[in-house]
Amino acid sequence: MVKIAPSILAADFGRLKDEVKKVEDAGADYLHIDVMDGHFVPKITVGPDIVKCLRPHSRLIFDVHLMVKEPERQISSFIEAGADLVTVHAEACAHLHGALTEVKKRNVKAGVALNPATSPEVLSYVLPLIDLVVIMTVNPGLGGQTFLKEILPKIKVVKEMLLKAGVPVEIQVDGGINPQVAPLAVKEGADVLVAGAAVFGTPNPAEAMQRIRESCKIGH
Ligand code: DX5
Ligand code: ZN
Repeated sequence: MVKIAPSILAADFGRLKDEVKKVEDAGADYLHIDVMDGHFVPKITVGPDIVKCLRPHSRLIFDVHLMVKEPERQISSFIEAGADLVTVHAEACAHLHGALTEVKKRNVKAGVALNPATSPEVLSYVLPLIDLVVIMTVNPGLGGQTFLKEILPKIKVVKEMLLKAGVPVEIQVDGGINPQVAPLAVKEGADVLVAGAAVFGTPNPAEAMQRIRESCKIGH
């Protein structure tokens, strides 16, 4: 069964605790927390203090997606705030192996995010360090964008790479997910689907998550 990671980027920040409870009660698997610094991407979103405030109110896996320059500088503060999984962008790290080592030594799961133009080759020498590969199916920085179907083959390439290496790494697909494209991503090998607009951007996030799950059963 595919896992769903609602992205808070599309949530009502004025009622974030309630919004998180809504998706948690509806069976979300991860809470995808999009962190943007205004440099790696133009928008600025949340910092570790928001994670710290949410932590006591949710048992969800806090999946922190660092869309920030020099993520090495932010890792420990998000982990101390309660992150269960920290994803850094391969494009943002001068020392990707070092950044992932920093995450792992704190007994937290580590992810690498690949922008649409980035080749999976960048994963070759860090596979033993990672728990998650985030394949961006939009250019990072905004919610509500259209899924880039030309990235679908990359999901299959990464899936084959992980199977060949025999590593227990999940594939998360992030950007533009909705019931129409979700089955396409799952068919290529996605394990976790991030959904912002298609969940929090709807009147009933619980129903929206169910629709995405159902679409993967039918379309799969
Ligand atoms: C984009 C973020 C995504 C985004 C997903 O930079 O990484 O997580 O918020 O939102 P939707 O599902 O609306 O594309
Ligand atoms: Zn994200």
